[in-house]
Amino acid sequence: MAWLLYVVAVCALVAPAQAVVGGDPAAPPEPDAAVVFTQKHGYSARCEGLRDETRGYYTFAGIRYAEPPIGNRRFQRPVRRYLAGEINATRLCPPCPQVDPRGSGRIIGHEDCLCLNVFAPKMPGEERGSPVIFFIHGGNYRTGSIAAYGGQHFAQQDTILVTAQYRLGSLGFLSTGDRDASGNAGIFDLRAAMTWINNYIEFFGGDKSRIVVMGQGSGGRTASLLGLSGETPRESRSATGVAALSGAPLSPGAVKSDPKKHAEEIAERTGCPKQPAERLLLCLRKLPAEKIIEADKDVLMEMVDTEAFLEEIAGNAGVGVRVEGEDDKRGLPPLVAEDPSDSIKKKHQLGPMLTGVTSAETSRAVFGKYAKFLSNQLSQVQDFIKKDLIGGLKKTVQGVEGLNPLKLPGVQRAVPLLDYYQAVFDNSMKAIDGLAQIAEATGDALFNFPAYQSVREWSAGAPALMYSFEHVGNLSKGSHFIPGIALTQGADNPSENVQQKGKGPAHGDELAYLFEPLDDEGKPLNQSVSTTDAEVRQSFVSLFAKFARNLSSNKTRDEKLFGFIPYSTDGEQYLKIGKTITLDKNFRFCQIGLWGEMSDRLTDTFCKNHLEQILNLPKLISPVAIQVDKVGKIPLHNQGIPLLMPKPTTKPNWNAFNNINPFGIA
Ligand SMILES: *[C@@H]1O[C@H](CO)[C@@H](O)[C@H](O)[C@H]1NC(C)=O
Ligand SMILES: *[C@@H]1O[C@H](CO)[C@@H](O)[C@H](O)[C@H]1NC(C)=O
Ligand SMILES: *[C@@H]1O[C@H](CO)[C@@H](O)[C@H](O)[C@H]1NC(C)=O
Ligand SMILES: *[C@@H]1O[C@H](CO)[C@@H](O)[C@H](O)[C@H]1NC(C)=O
Ligand SMILES: *[C@@H]1O[C@H](CO)[C@@H](O)[C@H](O)[C@H]1NC(C)=O
Repeated sequence: MAWLLYVVAVCALVAPAQAVVGGDPAAPPEPDAAVVFTQKHGYSARCEGLRDETRGYYTFAGIRYAEPPIGNRRFQRPVRRYLAGEINATRLCPPCPQVDPRGSGRIIGHEDCLCLNVFAPKMPGEERGSPVIFFIHGGNYRTGSIAAYGGQHFAQQDTILVTAQYRLGSLGFLSTGDRDASGNAGIFDLRAAMTWINNYIEFFGGDKSRIVVMGQGSGGRTASLLGLSGETPRESRSATGVAALSGAPLSPGAVKSDPKKHAEEIAERTGCPKQPAERLLLCLRKLPAEKIIEADKDVLMEMVDTEAFLEEIAGNAGVGVRVEGEDDKRGLPPLVAEDPSDSIKKKHQLGPMLTGVTSAETSRAVFGKYAKFLSNQLSQVQDFIKKDLIGGLKKTVQGVEGLNPLKLPGVQRAVPLLDYYQAVFDNSMKAIDGLAQIAEATGDALFNFPAYQSVREWSAGAPALMYSFEHVGNLSKGSHFIPGIALTQGADNPSENVQQKGKGPAHGDELAYLFEPLDDEGKPLNQSVSTTDAEVRQSFVSLFAKFARNLSSNKTRDEKLFGFIPYSTDGEQYLKIGKTITLDKNFRFCQIGLWGEMSDRLTDTFCKNHLEQILNLPKLISPVAIQVDKVGKIPLHNQGIPLLMPKPTTKPNWNAFNNINPFGIA
C-alpha cells in the first residue's frame, strides 16, 4: 500500500523528448522492477513507475502522449509525443482546465494535461500479453480527470487499464462549424492516446490485438464514436471492441447539432470577434485558459428552465462533439465524419459492443439538484408533465438521428405518450410521486431507450450486448468519479437517501464496482468493503475483463460473447447486474415500446392490461380491435389508447441458459 503514497506525489517527463544516444540501456532491470524500456520510431526510453508489492501490479502515471496544446497549438489537433529518454512515471498530471467540479468556483487544472496512466498486471514475458481496456472519463466534456480511476481490480483479472486525459470545454471542443475552427480537438487527443497504446502497450505487457475502448457518460458516447470512426487511419484503428457505460452511440448529446452557437457566445463573453473563425481563434489564443473556461461557465449559468434541465441531464448543454463531414478541405481526415446512426448503418462498427445503464440514471439530478425547481413546476405549471417534461423529452429523442421512429416515412404518431405520463401523475397527485415519475421518464427517454436502440442497431453489423446495473451497495457514488455534473449531485442534505427514492443506482454509481476509487492525488480511499459489494465488484469487473479477453481481430457477426449469443432481435436478452449476474429478457418492455413507438409491444395485452389497471379506466378497446398497418405501427384512429409501462412479468426463457454460468463466477 505504501507505494501508492508516492504515486500521488510523483510523475513527470523528466527528460525532454529526444533520442537516447548510444544504444541500449545499461543493466537489465530486476524482473519485478516497475521499469519499462521502449524502442520505437527511433527513440528509446526508460520509463519508471511503481509496483504494488502486495498485489504485484504496476502503475505508470502521468505519461505525456502528446505535446502540450499551448500557444499556437491551442484548439489544434494534438501533436503526438514519442517516449524518449528518462521518464519518471510516478506522478499524476494536473487535470485539464475546468471549473472546480467540487464547487469552489475556481478554475483548476493546466493546459499541459495530455497524459495517460497505465495499470499493468505484469511485465512482458513468455505468455501472451494482457488484453487492454482504454477508459475515457465522463463529465459532459467540461469536467473530470483520470485521477480517481484506479486499475487495481482490472489488473487482478489480468487486464491492463489505460486512462487518458483530453482537452475539455471550449479548449477541447470549440467549433464554429467550419474548417478554421473545426472542433473535436478533445476527441483527437483520445485518438492520439489510442495510437500511443498501439505503439507502446506491448512494452507494458499488453496485447494490442485486444483493445476495448471504454467510457462512461459522455465518455461512453465518445468511446462509441471512436468505435465507429471508419475513416481513421489504420494505425489508430486499434480498438477491437467498445464498452459504453451509460452513454451510447444513439444517446442524445452524442453529437452536437449546433456547435456554432456556443462559439458565438464565447466570443461575446470574451470580447473576441465572432468571425471569421480564424480571427476568433487568434484572439482566444491570446487569452489565459482560465478566461475561456470562465466564459464556458457563464454560458451555462444562464439557463434555468425545464429545457435547461433536460439539456443538462441529456448531456446536451455546453460544448460537445461535432460531425465534421467527409472533407474539411485541408486534406485532414475527419474522425467523426458522419452521424453515428449513419456509421452504424454502413456497418463501420469496429467490433462488438457492450453497453448498459444503471437502473435510476437521473434520480440524483431529479431528487437532488433540480428537486426544488421541479417541485415548483409541478405545483405551479398546469400540465407540466405532459407539456413541458414529456414534450421536451420527446423533442430531445426526436432530435437524435436513429432514435426517432417518427422519421420513418409514412408513419404517424401512434402512442399517447404525453397523456400517459400526465395521467399517471394526476392519479397520484403528490409532488414526491411527481418527482419519481420525472426520474423514470427521463431515465427511460435519455438512457434506457437509447441504450436499447443502440444495441439493436449495432448488432446488425457486429455483436452487441446490453446490461442493466441494478445493485444498490455502499461503495463510492458517482460523485466521487464525476463530481460537478447534475446527474451525480445529490440533495443538499446528504442524509436524504436519493438512492432509496430513486429505487436504484444513479449515474456513475457503477464506477466504484469497476475502478478502485482514488483521491485527487491518486491515493486509495481505503473504504471498508462488504462481502456482497466485493462479490458484485468481482463479477462486474470480470464481465468487462472477459469482454476484452474474448475479442479477436476476426469480427464475424456471429461471434459469440462469453459463450452465448449476443443480442438478436428474437432474443432480446440482457444482463442484469444485481448481487449476481443473470440473463433476463425484455428490458423495460412497455416503456421502451412507448418511447420507440413499437406497436407490437404496445398492443401486447401485457402492456395494455397494466394501463387499464393503473389508470382505472374502463376497457376502451380490446387488443384484437387494434389494426397494425404494414409498417408495423398502430394506425391513427387508435391513437386514443393510453398505455401503461409496468415491469414485464414474462419470464425469460431459462431453458436456453440452464446450467450456463457465462461469467465463470460462482
Ligand atoms: C520521480 O519523481 C519523484 C517526485 O518528484 C522523485 O521523488 C523521484 O526520485 C523521481 N524518480 C526518479 C527516478 O527520478
Ligand atoms: C450497506 O451498508 C448497510 C449498513 O451498514 C448494510 O446494512 C448493507 O448490508 C450494506 N450493503 C451492502 C450491499 O453491502
Ligand atoms: C490508505 O491506506 C494506505 C496504507 O495504509 C495509506 O498509506 C493511505 O494514506 C490511506 N489513504 C487514505 C486516503 O487515507
Ligand atoms: C480469422 O478468420 C479467418 C477465416 O475465417 C481465419 O483464416 C483466421 O485464422 C482467423 N484469424 C484469427 C486471428 O482467428
Ligand atoms: C471466447 O469465449 C468462448 C466461450 O467462453 C471460448 O470458447 C473462446 O475460446 C473465447 N475466445 C477467445 C479469443 O478467448
